[in-house]
Amino acid sequence: MQLERVFLLIACAVAGCHDGGAPVAPAPAAPAASATPAEPAGHHPGHSWDEIYRRGQGFKLTPNQLLTDSVRSVKPGKALDIGMGQGRNAVFLAKQGWDVTGVDTSVEGVRIAGENAKAAGVEVHGVVQDIATFDLGTNRYDLIAMIYMDDRKLMERIRNALVPGGMVVVEFFHSDANHDLPHPIDGFHTGELDALFPGYTIVRSEVVEDIADFGERPTKLVRFVAKKPA
Ligand SMILES: C[S@@+](CC[C@H](N)C(=O)[O-])C[C@H]1O[C@@H](n2cnc3c(N)ncnc32)[C@H](O)[C@@H]1O
Repeated sequence: MQLERVFLLIACAVAGCHDGGAPVAPAPAAPAASATPAEPAGHHPGHSWDEIYRRGQGFKLTPNQLLTDSVRSVKPGKALDIGMGQGRNAVFLAKQGWDVTGVDTSVEGVRIAGENAKAAGVEVHGVVQDIATFDLGTNRYDLIAMIYMDDRKLMERIRNALVPGGMVVVEFFHSDANHDLPHPIDGFHTGELDALFPGYTIVRSEVVEDIADFGERPTKLVRFVAKKPA
């Protein structure tokens, strides 16, 4: 399944969809300062997420628990938040002293993340870009977070982008989670992430039944934290 399609489906799981997969029109809300033009979904990869972030509903606004637990005793360094959304995780990390870059295709997500960072008195380097074209570099980040953003093709680039001893944190739907959602999601299989990070120290690798941060209902989730060999 194509990445864009996967995320449209998650967006649909959160916001609801018409038959053709286009998101339902959002409830009336105050127009955003930098509202994106009304384009058909699919022409703008972040379009449906823009609507969700404008609404600010259907997902957890507080930082992801796996991430907060994972960095509790880690010395802050350079962090990359892939699919940052509206910045709930990036702003949390910045408040802990991390130098955070957050990448997302959603113009609204990155705009709101900037506002949230400003309100918290911290800085987040927000980038509106498809992660497929973003230069992750080599040995660059002490932490890479991929929270409710799956892309198997990214894993090799993530492995290269982490510094030795750096940590990757992933939370996403399990492949069996489909039945809990209105549409199929191309989730991770049990053990799939362990196999994608060979030689890494696996800090956590769990399949759990819990409330998903996106959709906010009980389902089967994968939680994965691993450290690159030092
Ligand atoms: C389920 S949301 C998760 C947001 C954030 N990680 C969080 O936990 O709050 C997925 C995010 O991934 C972004 N996204 C999807 N495909 C992307 C891509 N190819 N490049 C960058 N961001 C992408 C979407 O715009 C959306 O904001």
